[in-house]
Amino acid sequence: MDWSPSSWRDFEARQQPDYPDRKALAAVEGDLAIRAPLVPHSDIDALTSALAGAQAGRAFLLQGGDCAETFDEDQAPTIALLKAMADSVGRTLPVSAVGRVAGQYAKPRSAPVESRDGIALPAWRGDLVNGRAFDPASRRADPRRMLRGYDRAALTLAGLPVFASHEALLLPWEQALVRSHAGRFYASSGHLLWIGERTLFEGSAHVEFARGIANPLGLKCGPGLSPGALLALLDTLNPRRIAGRISLVVRLGADRIATSLPPLLRAVLRERQPVLWACDPMHGNTRRGAGGRKIRLIEEIEAEMRRFFAVAEAEGPLRGGLLAEITAADVLECGPSGAPHAACDPRLNRPQAMR
Ligand code: PEP
Ligand code: CO
Repeated sequence: MDWSPSSWRDFEARQQPDYPDRKALAAVEGDLAIRAPLVPHSDIDALTSALAGAQAGRAFLLQGGDCAETFDEDQAPTIALLKAMADSVGRTLPVSAVGRVAGQYAKPRSAPVESRDGIALPAWRGDLVNGRAFDPASRRADPRRMLRGYDRAALTLAGLPVFASHEALLLPWEQALVRSHAGRFYASSGHLLWIGERTLFEGSAHVEFARGIANPLGLKCGPGLSPGALLALLDTLNPRRIAGRISLVVRLGADRIATSLPPLLRAVLRERQPVLWACDPMHGNTRRGAGGRKIRLIEEIEAEMRRFFAVAEAEGPLRGGLLAEITAADVLECGPSGAPHAACDPRLNRPQAMR
């Protein structure tokens, strides 16, 4: 079926904000569409090649950064920590470092509204969409935030020593930043884009969008994904089986990974689909503590990592990567008391990340 940057509009688009001002949205889309690409297509192709190398066992993918990047936070300390992690892993194998930066501004939410003291407002969906402050004006989805997002991303990208990645979630933003070169379409919003667990399904607008862009893609593989569904998605997203195009980011949870990962691995190996297997030990191990606070235990994060690499070793020559949510700030979020300050999920601090 024909693809265009807007063909996702005929599919089921989950996790999209409701923009009350459609005229303002159209104006912003028009403005973004004539701006320079945020990242050049040649750098996008360079990452695909690097990931093809990682798939062949010549490198390791290390993806890291904040769960939700905000407009008012300098990303330099997080990028420095990611580089330090990469240098430490890189003593044994070259590392492709990919930051969750310069675009990780939109977040999927498990509930569309947030209630406090009997008042219900739209949930915060990331700085690209609305404001965190709990008041009606701030929580209204404002398309003009995308213009700020563009400027903010450009600032972070200037002199960035790693590749940039984010969840391809807000589809009007992604569409407006598609650029074509030599007959191929690129999402110029970042080098690697991933499809989150909540939007990865057959018939998803996010899958339709991703299908037509030449960028390397991450697919978040959660407990609900069957081997058959995964193979169908791989057929859709990488019909020509291009090496380096697909990274499967496994986030099954420490208690499920040993039983759920082998069937996925075997199915993909059997079909000879070229993919990079990466471990996200964080998102399958998030539970709710007192007052709805999100909690991640370091023991579970480490257990999922250990089990991931044990399964990968047992099943064959599977090449790897790791995803971590990290912060350079001196805070303790991964632990029994959870993350009171993080904009989103608990992140590993420096000593935890360097272990
Ligand atoms: C994330 O990476 O921050 C995220 C929301 O992950 P997932 O889609 O795997 O839940
Ligand atoms: Co997260």
